[in-house]
Amino acid sequence: MKIMVVGGGGREYGLVWAAKQSVGVSEVIAAPGNAGIAQIARCLPVAAEDIEGLVNLAKKERPKIVLIGPEIPLTLGLTDRLQAEGIAAFGPTAAAARLEGSKTFAKEFMTKYRIPTAKYAVCRHSLEASKALDEFGIPVVIKADGLAAGKGVTVAMTREEADKAIQKAMVDKVFGEAGDCVVIEEYLSGEEASILAFADGKTIIPLVGSQDHKRIFDNDQGPNTGGMGAYAPAPVVTPELKEKIQKEILEPTLSGMQEEGTPYRGILYAGLMITALGPKVIEFNCRFGDPETQVILPLLTSDLIAAAQACLHENLTPELVRWSDEAVVCVVMAAPGYPGSYPKDLPITGIAEAEQDPDVMVWHAGTAEKDGQIVTSGGRILSVIAKAKDLKAAVDKVYQAAEKISFAGAQYRKDIAKLALARLK
Ligand code: AMP
Ligand code: GLY
Repeated sequence: MKIMVVGGGGREYGLVWAAKQSVGVSEVIAAPGNAGIAQIARCLPVAAEDIEGLVNLAKKERPKIVLIGPEIPLTLGLTDRLQAEGIAAFGPTAAAARLEGSKTFAKEFMTKYRIPTAKYAVCRHSLEASKALDEFGIPVVIKADGLAAGKGVTVAMTREEADKAIQKAMVDKVFGEAGDCVVIEEYLSGEEASILAFADGKTIIPLVGSQDHKRIFDNDQGPNTGGMGAYAPAPVVTPELKEKIQKEILEPTLSGMQEEGTPYRGILYAGLMITALGPKVIEFNCRFGDPETQVILPLLTSDLIAAAQACLHENLTPELVRWSDEAVVCVVMAAPGYPGSYPKDLPITGIAEAEQDPDVMVWHAGTAEKDGQIVTSGGRILSVIAKAKDLKAAVDKVYQAAEKISFAGAQYRKDIAKLALARLK
């Protein structure tokens, strides 16, 4: 069986890695992949946003199933297009992917189905937005409605910051159409957790709980990024809390989507704030998280492709989703300047040395090959991953490995999982 993976980051490296371990998989191809993925799969130069190109490629290659990594092709309807050609795609349809693609849709959906989330106002004019700011007070959160590559959210600690965020999205249009409409939200305090789940339209089964680290600097300082590291399992997600999340968030979301006539199949990612009043949804994503995938997949002991197929055939069962009782930590190594502008083509050394430890893997995210040398080609360059018997041992291992890798100006957080270790003490 041939598997095709769409995308070219650390998450997609993981999808290729997991697909290759699946029984019955004979070949994995990736579009576009990256220099690391090219070492373990055949890469084809079609961009993840090129829907026409991807459909043509799939028609030619005829994979048994297409695993779609990023949100853009999902919201653009790649699943629908592939299905129309008789090719199975793991990922929601465009209508179901609106849970991520439109914050307004997601908030209205959660209100309708009583799914706990922050109070909010949808504003289509900047004057309306200013009025809403008067009502919500400070701190307050401002979100561009559409996709903005993780940059459309401002957590404003002063009114001045809040006004600036409105100006940026609605008047200066820095996010283009994505900012025509903004959602203003009540600020939630608590600890964040990512709960991803397999969904087959009717049944939803959560994956191991994880936690991302969104800010660029240690102790959650500096601007937001795509994610600088993660760990799993997240001790904040206790068994009782998991049960509550299943009953109050995951199940109502799935049955609500069914009721809307847009059943949800694929990975549903709930970004949660664990508040004093219980778990609340910060956002939904319609796909695997990056870097959460890097800590989740190494703990999955059952077959990813079998679970994906069950999601497509509406026969997902708990036996298809099994976990190791170990812990995994991922540290993202990023280019100097990231998340702002950064140089490319910096030579990388030490990957093989880091991987000498059998419990360490280095998954490429933004790399390319130039004259036989692996070089940087993006913002987030590598995911360094370590698995061990517990979180403390995994943290020690991951940092020993990261120290062996170098490229000019490499930056990475030194405090991944620090809060979790404190909680475990
Ligand atoms: P999002 O892209 O919606 O996940 O938001 C990015 C980050 O902003 C989240 O990971 C949170 O840290 C923060 N955030 C978003 N919404 C809220 C909220 N209502 N209250 C507090 N923090 C929030
Ligand atoms: N780690 C956050 C995301 O994948 O959106």
